[in-house]
Amino acid sequence: MNSSISDPQRREHAASFGAAAQAYRRGRPTYPRTAVQWVVPASARTVLDLGAGTGKFTELLVGAGLEVVAVEPSAGMREQLSDAVPAAAVHDGTAEAIPLPDASVDAVVMAQAWHWVNPETAVPEVARVLRPGGTLGLVWNIRDSAEPWVAELDELLQHHSRQDVDTAPALGAPFSEAERAEFRWVHTLTRAALLDMVASRSYVIVLSGPERAELLGNVAELLDSHPDLAGHDEINLPYVTRCTRAVRK
Ligand SMILES: C[S@@+](CC[C@H](N)C(=O)[O-])C[C@H]1O[C@@H](n2cnc3c(N)ncnc32)[C@H](O)[C@@H]1O
Repeated sequence: MNSSISDPQRREHAASFGAAAQAYRRGRPTYPRTAVQWVVPASARTVLDLGAGTGKFTELLVGAGLEVVAVEPSAGMREQLSDAVPAAAVHDGTAEAIPLPDASVDAVVMAQAWHWVNPETAVPEVARVLRPGGTLGLVWNIRDSAEPWVAELDELLQHHSRQDVDTAPALGAPFSEAERAEFRWVHTLTRAALLDMVASRSYVIVLSGPERAELLGNVAELLDSHPDLAGHDEINLPYVTRCTRAVRK
């Protein structure tokens, strides 16, 4: 995912989320409905949410009337997911080892998580569980740093880790050429939820206690002092949701 961290660090970050599952559930954004409609074809009935986390995307799939299976490797995240989205069938597993039969789902989605997988193993494994003609959809919420205070926030966060996530990955056979789309929207959240959003980033979870406290202190100072934010009960955080979809041939 990130050219500035090593493979062992990447595995540590990918496995870190369970430790901050409650902050993740409270602070991370949902996704725009338009993105859900774009990545899941209208004909789909059974959908797999891969790397489902605490269920931020899963609940939108259930809300769209789909039959949803969620696969997530972290026990802490699965606990939040089962509580938040009881209508989804939740399983332990990864994108590289999906606990589902061959050709059993119409669509697979992975929100904010494809950058943690090994595509050499995950692409054939996703293709295995998809019915021919089924769709793989990948989604990322990216903070829109055209807003000056968001650029300042990103600078504080990048001091600890530069995240160079490829949000337009190549998939290759047996998938068709990927299509891309972007959706702009605003996440309105409280000051406490914004601090939870920061605390639930993988590279913040793995910091030492003092480093994490210092970073959260710096973010709190930005929220209290920036003229666009100080004294506001609600914060409008702009996002661009970047999507990829490809059809299994
Ligand atoms: C940033 S969270 C995204 C969670 C959820 N999809 C969302 O949109 O909120 C990334 C998730 O990917 C999971 N994950 C990490 N490596 C994975 C892998 N190889 N296969 C599937 N999921 C993985 C993590 O446990 C974590 O829950």
